[in-house]
Parts: sequence; C-alpha cells; structure tokens
Amino acid sequence: METDNHVLYGSFESEYVTITRGDGVYVYDEDGNRYLDAVGGVCVVNIGHGVQEIVDAMNKQAAEVTYTYGGIVDNGPRQALAQKLQDWAPPGMGHTKSLFCSGGAEANEAALKLAYQYHRERGNPTKRKFIGRWQSYHGNTVATLSMSGRTPWRSVNSPLLLDFPHIPPPYCYRCPWDLNYPECGLTCANELQRVIRQEGAENIAAFIAEPVIGTSMSAVVPPDEYYGIIRNICDENDILFIADEVMSGVGRTGKKWAIEHWGVTPDIITSSKGLAGGYSPLGAMILAEKVWTAIADGSGKVSHSTTYGGNPLSCAVGLAVLEYIEQHDLVTKAGVMGDRLIAALEEAFADVPYVGDVRGKGLFAGVELVANRETKETFPVEWNVGHRVEADALKNGLLVLAGVTGLVDGVVGDHIELVPPYVIEDEHVEFIVSTLRNSILTVCANADPT
Ligand SMILES: Cc1ncc(COP(=O)(O)O)c(C=O)c1O
Repeated sequence: METDNHVLYGSFESEYVTITRGDGVYVYDEDGNRYLDAVGGVCVVNIGHGVQEIVDAMNKQAAEVTYTYGGIVDNGPRQALAQKLQDWAPPGMGHTKSLFCSGGAEANEAALKLAYQYHRERGNPTKRKFIGRWQSYHGNTVATLSMSGRTPWRSVNSPLLLDFPHIPPPYCYRCPWDLNYPECGLTCANELQRVIRQEGAENIAAFIAEPVIGTSMSAVVPPDEYYGIIRNICDENDILFIADEVMSGVGRTGKKWAIEHWGVTPDIITSSKGLAGGYSPLGAMILAEKVWTAIADGSGKVSHSTTYGGNPLSCAVGLAVLEYIEQHDLVTKAGVMGDRLIAALEEAFADVPYVGDVRGKGLFAGVELVANRETKETFPVEWNVGHRVEADALKNGLLVLAGVTGLVDGVVGDHIELVPPYVIEDEHVEFIVSTLRNSILTVCANADPT
C-alpha cells in the first residue's frame, strides 16, 4: 500500500510501477524494465509512444499559441480538426459540426445535452431520458454513469444517478435470453422497442451504445443485423442514436469508426482516447447535419461548452495524430494486425481450459476467463482472477487490462482486454499471446487464493 506520497490512487491496495519513458509499443520504468504496452495506456496510445512528428507539431503549436477561449475567439487548429473530422465522418452524417472537449465522459455529457436540446428545439421537451445498455461504459460523471450499465461502479453511487433505462447487451456467448443466433431473431436489438414502449417514446431522447463493447465486456461484437434494427427503431420513435466511439473509433477496428462495419449512420459520434493518441487530453462530439440544423434553425445557441474545449494545443495534436494515421495507413494496419492477433489468440488458447471465448474486431480484442469451459462457470468474484492475470503479465513485461469484473450479469465474470498500438508487428503479437497464455495458466491453475 502506498501512503507515503500525496497521490490519491485508484486503490489503496495496489502498488504501481513508475513509468519514465515510452517508445513505440514499449514503456520503461524507473529501473529500466521494459513493458510491451498491449493496452496502449488504456486504448489511448494508438500510434505508439514517442512519435517525433507529434512532439514536433506540439512544440510548434506551443510556440505559437497554447490557449484561446473558444467562446470569444476562434483558432486555426480547431477549425482544421473539425474539417478533418468531417473528412473522417460517415457520409450519411452530411455536413457535420464538432464540439471539442478534454475526454470521453465530457464528450458524452455534451452528446446528452445536445440530444436533449435537439428535441427541445423541435417542440418535444419531454424527450429527456437516455437508454443505455447493461455492461456498458460511457464515463464516470453522474450523467454518463447514469447512461452506463457498469453495475459495480453504479452501485456505489446509485443514490446520485439519474433514472435512465437500460437494455441487455448483444452478448451471443451468453445470450441473456438463452437463444442462438440467427434463430433468435435479434431479440437483443428488438428489446429496445419494448423498453421505449414501456417508458413512452415521448420521454426518450436517445439510445447510446459502444459499437464494439469495451472495458465492461472486452470486445463483444454484436451480430451483423444488430445496428440496422437499432437504427430503424430509433427512427420510428424519433430517438437519436449516439455511437460512443471513445474506444472503438479512430481506426481501431480497421475502419475509421466501428459503426461503419454495420453500414449504419449515427446521429452523434463521440470520440476521445486515441483521438490525440495520448499526446494531449482531447475529446470530440460530432453532430450530424440533422441535429445541429435543428438548433441553428431554433434558438441558434448551443447549450454546452467547457473552458479547455477546442484549445489550440490539443486540437493541433489531434490533427497531427489523424494526419499521421492517414500518412501511415494505420487504419488498414489495425485491421490486418487485428486479424492476426485474434487468430493467434484463438490458436494459442484452443487448449487452455480457462479461456471460454476469444473475440473482437481489428485491434480491439478480448479474452473471457472461465473456471469451466463446458459449463461456462465463472470464477468467484473474490478470487480476483482477472486482476491477478493482469498483475502476473505485468511482472513478465506485458501490460494488459483486466476488464471490470461483472461482464456476465453485472456481478461475476473475468475478462482481459487487448488494445495495442496500431504499430505492433508479428513479433509483438507472438510475445503478447505467449506471455498472456502463461499468465492465464499460472493464475487460473491456482485460482483459489485461500
Ligand atoms: C466507451 C467509453 N466511453 C467513455 C469513456 C470515458 O472516457 P474518459 O475516461 O476520458 O472520461 C470511456 C473510458 O474508458 C469509454 O471506454
């Protein structure tokens, strides 16, 4: 336990190594030990550590101007980044407009406010609830945690949360209805209509979803028809569809935005994490033409802003990162290396009795741990198996992320997430897979700590 210094850590029970340097897919601690960063920080460092071009862009902008307040004056990097996001946006969104902020929760808070404003401006002020999914995550502020379905984090703050409904996740490995795809008829998507009817469409502003589910479930990928059904239900009920691409966006799944795999156009995209690659805090909310025109034609005033949102330094860094991704064709590379990583995981874990499921899209991969592969029985929560695998891997020079326990039903279920930088090569994939395999075998063979 670290009580000597003055940092408030996430846990009083954990020890943290101190990282002093990063280079490519590696980070180094103060004793010179090297770690392969197979989580890119936490799905942030998409282009790798220590990229000189980004440092140069940052220095150049810092020498010109670092801060201007977007409510009074504009700046070039903000305009250029908004133009770049227009170039990156799914064409169905039309002429987009982007609002910048400093992180993922801020982006989703902005989406919540603007979705509500969209309905208010069109004469529907009762449309103010947001439907999310269980085992999802949209941020740790009160409103974004209310949209999230991450039970362990919700329960400790439940008296503070807003009354937002949730539907079960599209989780075929353990279908909440015990059905099989495709005979199931996509009950998981159609559940949205049932909940809307129950709540009253006149009370619902938007449905929010991570296109590929992130740290609450480690890379669960919905069936092909899922988002098409969701899109239709939203349209029929005059409900906006917000794609939370904070993890899945900016090329991670092999397309610019993960939702493009389903050929569906969202009304709002939220982005952060890899948007500035960890070189600066940055988030964005991208509005489709239909949303901002309702506001422009109505009050003409946007009901949200933040002090640091759109600052020239963060925007210049975000622009440099997106240009770097384009110049090095890293979206394609994420798709190619992702296929190799997932294939290698499937092969390496085929005979590991503690791995129930390997899944993902592009370089967004997940491994679900089980006590019994046949019955899919989980480990007891108090054995803390996922975090022990994470700690063992770290000891062996590999950073992975134990997703938040509870993916099965909000309480039980351990899983490991792999979201490495797009610049990984085959030798790194081999190291990730073999080291993780050893850690899973070591920890799970002695899973009962008592
Ligand atoms: C999908 C998703 N949305 C939103 C957030 C919140 O982002 P931040 O921690 O930057 O507020 C996260 C963070 O993990 C996330 O994974």
